[in-house]
Formats: sequence, structure tokens, C-alpha cells
Amino acid sequence: AQANIGVIGLAVMGSNLARNLASREGNTVAVYNRSAEKTHTLTSEHPEANFVASETIEDFAKSLQTPRTAIIMVKAGAGTDAVIDQLTKVFEPGDIIVDGGNALFTDTIRREKAVKETGIHFVGAGISGGEEGALKGPSIMPGGSAESYETLGPILSSIAAVAEGEPCVTHVGTDGAGHFVKMIHNGIEYADMQLIAEAYDLLRKVGGLEPAEIADVFTEWNQGELESYLIEITAEVLRQTDAKTGKPIVDIIVDEAGSKGTGVWTVQNALDLGVPVSGIAEAVFARSLSSHREQRDVSTNLPGPSNPWTVSEDDKKGFIEDVRLALYASKIVAYSQGFDAINAGAEKYDWNIDKGAISKIWRGGCIIRAQFLNRIADAYDEQPALEALLTAPYFTEALVRAQESWRRVVAGAAGAGIPAPAFSSSLSYYDGLRAERLPASLVQGQRDFFGAHTYKRVDTEGTFHTLWSGDRSEIEAVDTH
Ligand code: 6PG
Repeated sequence: AQANIGVIGLAVMGSNLARNLASREGNTVAVYNRSAEKTHTLTSEHPEANFVASETIEDFAKSLQTPRTAIIMVKAGAGTDAVIDQLTKVFEPGDIIVDGGNALFTDTIRREKAVKETGIHFVGAGISGGEEGALKGPSIMPGGSAESYETLGPILSSIAAVAEGEPCVTHVGTDGAGHFVKMIHNGIEYADMQLIAEAYDLLRKVGGLEPAEIADVFTEWNQGELESYLIEITAEVLRQTDAKTGKPIVDIIVDEAGSKGTGVWTVQNALDLGVPVSGIAEAVFARSLSSHREQRDVSTNLPGPSNPWTVSEDDKKGFIEDVRLALYASKIVAYSQGFDAINAGAEKYDWNIDKGAISKIWRGGCIIRAQFLNRIADAYDEQPALEALLTAPYFTEALVRAQESWRRVVAGAAGAGIPAPAFSSSLSYYDGLRAERLPASLVQGQRDFFGAHTYKRVDTEGTFHTLWSGDRSEIEAVDTH
């Protein structure tokens, strides 16, 4: 046995991760793929990697030094279970199986429980950064036992992205914690992308800017507090022209957004956890709305407002700054909601998640990487038990600075009939949090009226019910929520 680490599943993510591993000092990488053809392609195209290739799972296991460590990089789902099944037959107690796919964290919890019975460690690790990240340095979010992280930590640290001198990997928590946090990462990714898309839409439809000009605006924004990978690549996409027509590529691409499901999982789980991730949810819904072509086709006749929103040349600069601040404020809300979901998940599944460490490993390698994450890390450093990220002084100050612009943009968009669901739901969330009284008291009254669901009083301990169909006097009641 020569190899210290193995990779199973050699599609582009697996191949790139294997090449990344092989490029690091001290690693010898075993590779295996269900069809041998992919293995041959990888080994022949990359002789420099000195891969140890196997055509059977038995040989793959033999080629690994014990305790064996193998990373599965197959499409999440039934294929993952099949590979785990094969591996548990040829691995021994103490060996480590890592699932580097985008698995649903509850599947990871189930798998970890089952694999543990055999004495083998199972680690679900979220890996972010796409194809390039896998090759050059991703952000890695491993769960699983602390014991397995002792072996795995140094290997993963060697291939992870480095941000300000620190590798973008940390032991997130036990069993499914890593995949849970990766799921939230993707939810935030959806929100970030939607917010940027809404900013673009307003700059174009209200500001009258062309895609290439908007690209310049984003490039400029990328120098400031919005600096991030997603802003950077947005500028690149907007600058791109179609070779066939010469038009901006953004005008040629069909406006129906796809998704592979991780954003939906974030929202589904947040609903179960009772966490209002409204910005993330709007981003998911905006993708669904875009892809309901039939409904959109019949809806183009729906009337819009009579007054368009236009800005004069003189006001353009101010308008662009308003949109920038609306984007920044909404982004703070999305991250705050994402971290709330991490908190709630940690509590429900009994994980000890260091949120400061999570924000640090998101500074490099992953899709949402940004300078901004340093501020989140600072906030959790200062107050580890921070209730809501947006109440940290740095963010509150930013929201104070942004709010007039944010309100102008949301109000303007509504007036002009331009959809800005993530901008506006984030603002509503902000106003909901800061409201002294919410109309939830009326909802409680309605619930008590039709279902005797009871309510609490602002002035007296206990649970109450009004005899709505009787003499409308109030009685003390059993709490039924
Ligand atoms: C990452 C990405 C990655 C993938 C998304 C795309 O962190 O590297 O999130 O996991 O590109 O799953 O998601 P959608 O296809 O759902 O947009």
C-alpha cells in the first residue's frame, strides 16, 4: 500500500480534488472510478500526479495505507449509498470514509450512524468552490467524529484555500454538522446571487445603464465593503458579449434560473426549525418564479403602474449609491438569517458550532468568499453568544448608514413595478425585528376566536381565552400555543 489518501468518483470535482491532493507535498493519491475509462483519462492526462489507480474497489482498498482514508466525490444521492456500501465491505475498523458531495445533512446523520456500527469513521464534508476551488483550494466543512478529524484535519488543511494565512477548514461538529453548514452556505449563496441580480435589474431598468456599464459599477463596488467573489464574477458575466450576435450574453441567456436543490433544503429546514430566513427564501422563490414560463407567458398582460421610475443624469450617481447600500444592507440580513439557522440547527442536533470559525473558513475558496466575513468573525469574537448578527455594532452602524437608501430603493421599485423580492423582504425583516409591537397580537386574537388557541397578556402571567361565542369574558386557560 503506497497511498495515504484516496478519491472515489472521478468526474470533474473528484478529478480536480485528486489533483489538488496529489500536488501537495507528502501525499500519494489512490484513485478509483466505477467506469475505468475516467480513471485512465485522469491518469494519462496527469502523469505528474503519480496517481495509484485501481480498477476494483478491492485493489483501491489495498492501495491505501492504514488507517485508510478515502473521499467519495460522486453525485449526492443513491450513488453515495452504493459507494459507502462497497467501501464498508473492503475497509476495516479505524478507517475513514469521507463524503465530499453535496449530501443532505440528514442523510449524513443516517449514514454516519450506520457506518459507525462497523467501526469505520464516516465524515460528511461540505466542499465549496466549484471546479476551480476543488483544484486550487476549496473551503471545506467536515463533520464527523473529533477522532477522525485528527487524521483528516492535516490532509484537508493541506488542500484547502488559505485566507489571511489560515486554511479554510475546521471541524464543524459531529455527524451531519458539516453538510448542514454547507447547506446554509448555499442558502446564503442563493440570497447573495439574487440580491446582486436585483441590483443589476434596477441599475439597468431605472438607471438606464448598459450591461458593460453595470459591469464597471460592480468592479468599483468590488473595491469596497461589498468586495466578494460573486460581485467580481458578476462583472465578468456582464462584460461578456455573445460571439454569435455581438449582444451582451446576459441578454441571450434564457431568464429561467435552475437549481440543484441545496437552497430549497435550507429553506425547508429553516421552516422546520422556525427560523425566518426570508431573504434566502425569496431568492429560492425568485428562481422558481423565473422558471414558470407558462405562468409568465400568460401574465405579461397584467397591468403595471403608469409612472415609470427614471433618474436624471444628475441623480444617477446618487441612485447607484442607493442601490449599493440597499444591496449591502440586504446582504447583512441574509447572512444574519443564515447564522440564525446555524444556531437553531446546532441546538436541535446538538452540535457545538463555532460561528466565528465558520465565517473564517468562508473567507477563502468558497462561492460566498468575501472580506465581509472578517467582520462577521470579529462580531462573534467579541460576542460569542450574539443573538442576531445584525445587532453587532459594526453591522448596526452599516444598517443605519444604509437604511434611507434601502428604503428609497424598495419604495421606488414597488412604485415602478420592478420586482425586488429579496431587497424588500430583507427590509421588512429588519423592520419586523425593530418594531416595538407587531400585529401578531391580532393573529393571536384571531386564533383564539376561531380555535380557542389562547393568548398571553402583556400585564399578567398565565394563558388566557376569551369566551368569544359566550359573554366575551376572559378565563384562564391551559396553554395550547
Ligand atoms: C459551491 C456551490 C456548489 C454548486 C451549487 C450550485 O459551494 O461550490 O454551492 O455546491 O455550484 O450547488 O447550486 P445550484 O445548482 O442549486 O444553483
